Amino acid sequence: MQSEAEAKACCADLYQSDMAKLIMGDTLHPGGLGLTNKLGRLMGLRAGDVVADLASARGESAQALGRVFRCSVLGVEFGAQAVRHAAGAAPDSSRARFVRGDAENLPLRSGAFDAAVCECSMSLFINKAQAVAETARLLRPGGKFGLSDVTIEPGALPAELQGDLGQVLCMTSALTAGGYVDLLDAGGFTVTERLDASVEIIKILDEVESKLAAFLAFQKMSGGVTDSRQLERSPELIAKVREMVTAGELGYWLYVGKKRP
Ligand SMILES: C[S@@+](CC[C@H](N)C(=O)[O-])C[C@H]1O[C@@H](n2cnc3c(N)ncnc32)[C@H](O)[C@@H]1O
Repeated sequence: MQSEAEAKACCADLYQSDMAKLIMGDTLHPGGLGLTNKLGRLMGLRAGDVVADLASARGESAQALGRVFRCSVLGVEFGAQAVRHAAGAAPDSSRARFVRGDAENLPLRSGAFDAAVCECSMSLFINKAQAVAETARLLRPGGKFGLSDVTIEPGALPAELQGDLGQVLCMTSALTAGGYVDLLDAGGFTVTERLDASVEIIKILDEVESKLAAFLAFQKMSGGVTDSRQLERSPELIAKVREMVTAGELGYWLYVGKKRP
């Protein structure tokens, strides 16, 4: 059986893969940097705030928050390759820095941060309660925790999405929309904002659908250079995911929690 460290490394590798980039684009969450900035606004981020970005991947969100809100952002990410990429891509003027670390055991000083964000990653953490406790530890009293993530109703994940693809889409161990509120509350945060951004999943599906249709048409025209049998099943999967969003079984929500004194 895979150890926890191996599972985390495997998860990090998956998000550094071309498949993740192809499906999700540069930011590995629905809504891109527009939704990151919306989260920052809901949190009331201010110039000079010291912010942690938990599971910062290639650093796009950390850099955007630094640029837009003029705060200092420290990105923490499990994947070493992603941390190297983020550090290398940050311009000299960037307000973002990056370290390798585990969100469930943060290598950061207690009470040293005004705010923390965690986008599309809590759903992946093996011990979510521990990650929330760690976030509470690093924030000062009154500090804000901005969380955005995939929500799923119990039993809604179809068999064909239970493997790697379901994980890339952050579905396999996502909570319900109310589940994140309970998680934050139990970890010492009062939830002050919650916002349904599920429409952003539909936008990703629209984009993937048109990229895929173009690719399959090209394959047919050119006689096919790669085996596209797997890809030919994708329209069915996309339709299934779309149906789940429409039925309210799958979603993407933003939350802001305020650390209780
Ligand atoms: C879906 S991506 C989201 C990345 C980024 N927050 C964004 O929205 O673009 C999930 C990220 O979580 C990272 N991750 C998973 N478990 C982690 C952990 N325990 N500690 C730190 N990072 C972790 C993965 O390596 C991956 O980069």
